[in-house]
Amino acid sequence: MPYAKIIGSGGYLPPRVVTNDELAAELATRNIETSDTWIVERTGIRQRHIADPGATTSQLATRAAQAALADAGIDAGELDLIIVATSTPDFVFPSTACLVQANLGAKGGAAFDVQAVCSGFVYALATADAFVRAGRAKTALVIGAEVFSSILDWSDRSTCVLFGDGAGAVVLKASEEPGIMAAQLNADGSQMKILCAAGNVAHGKVVGDPFLRMDGQAVFKLAVTSLTQSALDVCKEADVSLEAIDWLVPHQANVRIINFLGRRLNIPDEKVVVTVDHHANTSAASVPLAFDEARRDGRIKPGQTVLMQGVGGGFTWGSVLTRV
Ligand code: ACO
Repeated sequence: MPYAKIIGSGGYLPPRVVTNDELAAELATRNIETSDTWIVERTGIRQRHIADPGATTSQLATRAAQAALADAGIDAGELDLIIVATSTPDFVFPSTACLVQANLGAKGGAAFDVQAVCSGFVYALATADAFVRAGRAKTALVIGAEVFSSILDWSDRSTCVLFGDGAGAVVLKASEEPGIMAAQLNADGSQMKILCAAGNVAHGKVVGDPFLRMDGQAVFKLAVTSLTQSALDVCKEADVSLEAIDWLVPHQANVRIINFLGRRLNIPDEKVVVTVDHHANTSAASVPLAFDEARRDGRIKPGQTVLMQGVGGGFTWGSVLTRV
């Protein structure tokens, strides 16, 4: 059975950078108080990229995909599978993956979206791995892309300071060498209320609440416990020890969650990729953006073992253990 191997990666961040001080000054004009000190102490976030009004998830996803395809040396026509993980699709339908496929000038392969919020990229990567291992795809593009700024309530300081926009992508190819060694996905729908955007469009109107709502402390606790267990499970499945992991690339929600996780798993800080300080939380885009950054700057090297982990609304979580 072939492995799915990552042969290229790419990322895209909208050019507009908003620092904590700029955001605090903007919120102050509406009598909402926050500060760089509060945000950095509680989250580690210093800045985020925010898409211009009208910019869409498919546009960001296409830019990341083009970078990943160029890195892999693959023509879009070779793709037989495109999966986009997003919670901020351009439309109710068609899927953002179909829009990206058209933007890339590809045709004929399968294209669909996966919705698992901040776990979305790990869910999409595990799905693409299953396609490749089953022989149903040979060359796959997996993207995490979000314009989360479009679902933030900018009058709610407990959430609007946490997120940013962006997209990351990887190209997978069937290979006789590993490759993705194990993947592990979980959900607990009974926890949906601790993190949700419980609105929709129906009968020509927005129905329910279109904005993201979160019980931060409940999310924090569940994120640390679920990611710890998931890491142990995926390593057991692959028969790889935690000590053998060269890089942990966790979902980038909050540096405190990442630090807790590293300590629980006994993985030293030097082996943990952190981008939340300059990207903030880009939901489904956070893991591929962090992976791409560390791969491009030479930290993640060919042959190394990388553990990618996602956690988010649903409640969902999961891990992918791969050799690069
Ligand atoms: N600026 C200043 N004060 C704030 C802000 C802000 N931006 N936001 C909240 N506060 C205030 C609150 O009003 C509260 O004030 P009070 O004591 O007068 O009532 C005080 O700060 C403490 O609020 P808490 O919510 O208890 O703060 P906490 O220490 O829990 O930190 C945070 C909040 C950062 C959200 C934390 O709970 C957390 O990191 N949770 C994890 C959730 C997360 O990262 N989610 C990202 C999305 S989910 C995901 O990606 C998995």
